[in-house]
Amino acid sequence: MPADMSPSDRAKFLAARRAVDYVEDGMRVGLGTGSTAAWMVRCLGDLVREEGLRVTGVPTSRRTADLARQVGIKVVTLEEAKWLDLTIDGADEYDPNLHLIKGGGGALLHEKIVATASDQMVVIADISKQVDKLGAFPLPVEVIPFGWQTTKMLLEETLINMDVMGRTCTLRLDMDKPYVTDEGNYILDLHLRRIGKPGQLALVLNQIPGVVENGLFIDICDVVVIGHQDGRVEVRDINNGTVKNEQIDIVEDENLFQDISD
Ligand code: 5RP
Repeated sequence: MPADMSPSDRAKFLAARRAVDYVEDGMRVGLGTGSTAAWMVRCLGDLVREEGLRVTGVPTSRRTADLARQVGIKVVTLEEAKWLDLTIDGADEYDPNLHLIKGGGGALLHEKIVATASDQMVVIADISKQVDKLGAFPLPVEVIPFGWQTTKMLLEETLINMDVMGRTCTLRLDMDKPYVTDEGNYILDLHLRRIGKPGQLALVLNQIPGVVENGLFIDICDVVVIGHQDGRVEVRDINNGTVKNEQIDIVEDENLFQDISD
């Protein structure tokens, strides 16, 4: 691992490196989006090239698709794969039940579809993503552009009756224009500060006309792999109720650390 790697990248890399141990020969794997997931794609590509691992990847964004092809992973659509053995993805927050907030990178819709179409979802993160209660990270909600201001108003009204501490919604911007997702939609970020009942909120938000999907992942994640800056990796499995602490020794591999584009 390069000595000049930032502590945060080091932790993300370690989580990613450990998580690819879940990938077995011949698997169909959902490939997440974001900086942690980009490390995972790199690690997986390394196994494909160096060890001949055969995997088929279903990317959750155009960015991830480009990276996966670049590192030698065979890429197919979810339509082609139909069902996946495993998805590995990052998260913006995870709570003790492994409920998540996702969508900071704008790919929540594809990420949720892909993770739900998988036998297992493994989340990779550094410890900064761990929270007791979800909601400090603004909750992304993907909405269709048509009538988005009305959808925003309806969302704000709905939040009055929900167990949350903040109720502001903001349109996500890309420079001075609305941020547009891979599906051509907009994202409203909900500044809730604390979400009392995430399961209830996830269901209610999706009832609002114009809402395509929200970034709450409830009962979808099975395992979280947490990388620490000192080389430790913690693996929490919600189904088995196990927590394992491991130390990872990384040998620097030039291929893995060059040209990271995400
Ligand atoms: C993208 C996501 C990402 O997984 C999430 O934003 C975490 O990103 P990073 O690994 O860069 O911190 O949900 O839509």
